Order: sequence, then C-alpha cells, then structure tokens
Amino acid sequence: MTAAFPTRRLRRLRATPALRRLAAEHALVPAQLVLPVFVKEGITAAQPIASMPGVSQHPLEALAGVVDEAVAAGIGGIMLFGVPATRDAVGSGAVDPDGILNRAITLARDAAAGRLTVQADLCLDEFTDHGHCGVLAGDGSVDNDATVDVYAQMGVAQARAGAHILGLSGMMDGQVAAVRAALDAAGFAHVVILAYSAKYASAFYGPFRDAVESTLQGDRRTYQMSPANAREGIEEALSDIDEGADVVMVKPAGPYLDILARVADVSSVPVWAYQVSGEYALIETAAAAGLIDRERAIGESLLGIRRAGADAILTYWALEAAGWLQDGK
Ligand code: PBG
Repeated sequence: MTAAFPTRRLRRLRATPALRRLAAEHALVPAQLVLPVFVKEGITAAQPIASMPGVSQHPLEALAGVVDEAVAAGIGGIMLFGVPATRDAVGSGAVDPDGILNRAITLARDAAAGRLTVQADLCLDEFTDHGHCGVLAGDGSVDNDATVDVYAQMGVAQARAGAHILGLSGMMDGQVAAVRAALDAAGFAHVVILAYSAKYASAFYGPFRDAVESTLQGDRRTYQMSPANAREGIEEALSDIDEGADVVMVKPAGPYLDILARVADVSSVPVWAYQVSGEYALIETAAAAGLIDRERAIGESLLGIRRAGADAILTYWALEAAGWLQDGK
C-alpha cells in the first residue's frame, strides 16, 4: 500500500507557539550580546547621534549608569569607543593613560565590578587628525609596521586601564601577534584579544563615522577588505588565530553572513559578529517610515546573524533585545 500524499508534513512542528518554541534550532541569549558605547570628552549631557536614532554619545560621568543598565539587561559586555577633544597625526591620545578611552575603560571596569566584560576598540582612527586607522608614511599611505608598534603600546595602555577584552579593529598585518607579545611582556597574559579578522571596507560604517566625528577623507580600502572577497576573509581569520587571537570577528554582519558561516565552520575559537551602524540605521529609518515592523525586523536580523554562526553579537540594540529575551519574547 502506498502512503497517502503528502507523507512528509513539515508543517506539523509549526502548528502552535509551544511547538515552534520547542523546535527552534537557534536562540539568542542576553549574555552573548555586546553593546557598543561612545564616550565623548568634554560633554556634560548625552548627545544624540543624528544618523543613529536612539544612540547617543555619553559623557564620562554617565558611564557608570550605562554599565548599570547593561548589567541589569544581563548582556555580556560593552565595547567602548572614545571621542577625544583633540587629535594629532600619530593618535597620541590612544596611548595616553589620561586619554578619554583609557579613562572610560577604568571607570567602566570599576562600575562593572566583574558583572560584565569591558571591551575597548583598539584602533587609531578616533585619535588621528587625518582619521586613518594608523600612522602615515611620508607618501601619505598608512604605514603598517609603524602602526602595529603604536597598537602594541595602545594595547598595553588599555590593559593597564583595566580592559578585559581588546577589540583589534585596525586591519593591519601582524597586529594580533604584536599586541599579544606586548601584553604578555607587560604582565597582561590574561587579557583577551578579539580580532576583527574579516573586516570589510564598508559603506555600512557611514553612521559610525558621525558617532565618532571622523575626519577621514577618502576611504580605508588599502587595509580593510574588498567586499568582493570571501576566501581572503577565511584566511584573515585563520592567520589571526595563528597569531594568537582568542576570538575572531566578521564585520559588518548582515551583508556578510556567508563569510560568517564559513569562518564559523573552520574556526577553532569563538566567532563573533558586529552588526554595524548602517545595519542599525537601515532598520530604524525603515521602521520610522512605517515600512517595516521594527521589533520583528531587529529580532530577525539578530537571529540571522546567530544562525549563520555567530557565538556573540555586537549590536546597538543589545539592551533592548536583551529586554525582550528576558520577557520571553
Ligand atoms: C574602527 C571601527 C569602525 C567601526 C568599529 N570600529 C569604523 C571603521 O572601520 O571605519 C564601525 C562600527 C559601526 O559602523 O558600527 N575604529
């Protein structure tokens, strides 16, 4: 006897909310969301960022409050970015223990008291007057090896300030090995390196440049990756792991889910993703225009990143999404 058509009923497990919940292959948890936080020198009240509705630059004095909110939301950490009052050609503010980012790290670490991880952006673009992620050679190009030397000093300064995790986002060759060696030599063998391994030269960073008041003219295509390349992204991740990265990252997230999935397949260390400012702004503006269901779109964008293989996600919606997850939404 032949079975009646259809024999395979995949809709069976979709019939009720309880079945759908039980059959979910992937889920988000607050502990694996990280909130990027902008701290600006010399302001006294939070300053909204025009291109990122709902996101602000914070004064140093408000940082403890942000940390408390993040702890209450149960998220895994905050990623700190500094917006200094002055900049110079070599990004001195980045290695200065009194620089805005290093002060923010110490303050956040004290406020967090072990309840979440304090992470710091390790890159020069917020500190250079030309806005590039490194120091320049005489011909105006970004000098890889000279930059890596500064990153090593910056990493030690951030570790000394109390950062638990350093986010190496500058895309210089050899940066992971150099920062790891400098940390180890200075007594910071326990500090974690998060390597922004497959970081693409992306238009989706546009709103972020506003958030840090970037002075960049031109682009970062001589150090960040070409959106045309996939194999190279895997190689970037593997070589960072070789150099001692504790975690590798893919960035942006949404437009690069294929890279994320492929890196997750071959990585021997955790793989994170950064849902960047442009991904944030797209959904916020479409929702504000009434074109899309905001909460569902946010949830779906995050779940897609998770499904592609991200263990943890940096997202500007970290607090809000963690709140939904706590409410069982
Ligand atoms: C570099 C850095 C950037 C972002 C995070 N770290 C900017 C860039 O590479 O141009 C972008 C993050 C975002 O767009 O949300 N310091």
